[in-house]
Amino acid sequence: MTQAPPKHGLQTRIVHPQDDLTPGFESFSVPVTRASTVVFPDLATMRALDWRNDAQWRYGLHATPTYIALTQRLAALEGGNHALLQPSGLSSISNVYFGFVKAGDDVLIPDNVYSPNRDHGEWLARDFGVSVRYYDPLIGAGIAALIQPNTKLIWLEAPGSVTMEVPDVPAITAAARARGVVTAIDNTWSAGLAFRPFEHGVDISVQALTKYQSGGADVLMGATITADRALHLKLKLARMHMGLGVSADDCSLVLRSLPTMQVRFQQHDRTALALAQWLKTRPEIAAVLHPALPDCPGHEFYRRDFSGAGGLFSVVFDERYSAAQIDTFCESLELFAIGWSWGGAASLVMPYDVASMRKASTWPHRGTLVRFYMGLEEEADLRADIARCLDALAR
Ligand SMILES: Cc1ncc(COP(=O)(O)O)c(C=O)c1O
Repeated sequence: MTQAPPKHGLQTRIVHPQDDLTPGFESFSVPVTRASTVVFPDLATMRALDWRNDAQWRYGLHATPTYIALTQRLAALEGGNHALLQPSGLSSISNVYFGFVKAGDDVLIPDNVYSPNRDHGEWLARDFGVSVRYYDPLIGAGIAALIQPNTKLIWLEAPGSVTMEVPDVPAITAAARARGVVTAIDNTWSAGLAFRPFEHGVDISVQALTKYQSGGADVLMGATITADRALHLKLKLARMHMGLGVSADDCSLVLRSLPTMQVRFQQHDRTALALAQWLKTRPEIAAVLHPALPDCPGHEFYRRDFSGAGGLFSVVFDERYSAAQIDTFCESLELFAIGWSWGGAASLVMPYDVASMRKASTWPHRGTLVRFYMGLEEEADLRADIARCLDALAR
């Protein structure tokens, strides 16, 4: 059934959602419905429940009204129809593996994928009889040659959240569809705002809600979002078998942050792009890997398929600087914390040894990669902080 086009734009619909989960009570917040036990009026009501029905709750692990409100808003935001919540972005990734892959099946993973996803795949390969192979993230339609009769799942990440290559998503998903292979994208970098996965042929979108959706650097949560009900139900069953649940309190924190996500994302985007352009002029930097800049591999796909970039990008230092010097650079920054998980208000920095992570593609750079997450501080202050530490490096 085709749905009528929505009357208002996405941001307006996120601020004024249409759900009505608690009739008779009106406020701008969704009530926090904590529950392990869910109480039924009688056995007939309990027996009539159907696990496939996303509007029902039968045990706090599976859904509460707060949970349902968040799933509905996330599905709408991403342009899908169904969402499930898991206790971390990584457990959402795990939910996809266990929903679609069994012993004897084959999985294709891009070489630049979020590394715990790679580790998860290798764990399945080592202990569960799954075949895992890596592909060059810029392979595009060439992925067709890698698909085998037992290939069941192709992962994408757009862009890879450390080395930033932007894949040709529609070329990869078209090849997968032609062979009946499910595709799943880690769409966390774009927050579901700047890249519309289902318009580009993707089957499942994963969001680490820990990042921009939380916005507070304090909540851990993930989501799997689909447009297709059959795929959703497979994921839902695997989620139930694995006993994955999230607290209503954490859902409530994410619901509180969601209406401001787009304006935060746009502000991160402005600061990050300005500083990426400035870093390109610095002699200490050999390459700036920001998808909106032409030097970034796959920039043409970014221009074609994306509407924004957020706060995360990487630079490669000139090879004359040792890894120890780059460590000193990172530690000397005053406004950039050393820590995982971007999406909060504060800026972050992290050095990476990329060459050791590659399997199916060659890493063309010799200098050390440093990833920046540009927070919501003043751009001029961030620039001055980086400039001070770059100057010290060059001395
Ligand atoms: C691209 C990407 N995907 C998934 C995750 C996993 O999220 P979580 O930390 O909630 O497990 C992260 C976290 O760093 C990430 O950067």
